[in-house]
Amino acid sequence: MMAAEILNLIIVRKMQDNEDIPYELLLDADPSLEVISTYLSLSEIYIALLQNRIIGTFVLYPVNQETSEIKNIAVAEKLQGQGIGKLLLKNATQIAAAKGAKKIVIATSNASIGPLYLYQKAGFEMDTIKKDFIIENYPEPLFDNGIQCRHMIVLTKYL
Ligand code: ACO
Repeated sequence: MMAAEILNLIIVRKMQDNEDIPYELLLDADPSLEVISTYLSLSEIYIALLQNRIIGTFVLYPVNQETSEIKNIAVAEKLQGQGIGKLLLKNATQIAAAKGAKKIVIATSNASIGPLYLYQKAGFEMDTIKKDFIIENYPEPLFDNGIQCRHMIVLTKYL
């Protein structure tokens, strides 16, 4: 299937309580179950379906009445690089906006070049750096693109 055809077939919807949480995808975006567990029950999980199979996810965490954070945005590895991540980011932003968010937050590691590119291309701007957040909150050292993930880069977009 061509990338454009795939994008037209993707359905994004909120997960229902009786469905299995797509942990594998969530963990691709954030490898600590412990960290994920701190916010998952307070958040909404969205899934992207392609021909009835879950191929992507994102999580919306309500920081406060005016601010939503997009967390755990992930696309199944085989389908990456075809515009699905961009589509999910757009969907997440639109859903948060429809809920009344005026500010969207998204955070990733200093080493996550792909996400940093994707988020800035979509209009998010670097806001703050949580220095040493990753080395202090994750049990194992993490690397991306051969760079150690040490700091959390927080990006924001005002709607
Ligand atoms: N380096 C440079 N650019 C990249 C990279 C990369 N490694 N990866 C993607 N891009 C660019 C693409 O070229 C594209 O740019 P373009 O529009 O100019 O062509 C843009 O980013 C969007 O690419 P998509 O194809 O839409 O992205 P994809 O479907 O691969 O999804 C995602 C991106 C979600 C980051 C995916 O790679 C993934 O699931 N990675 C593993 C999980 C992860 O790291 N998630 C983010 C963690 S941070 C968080 O969740 C808040």
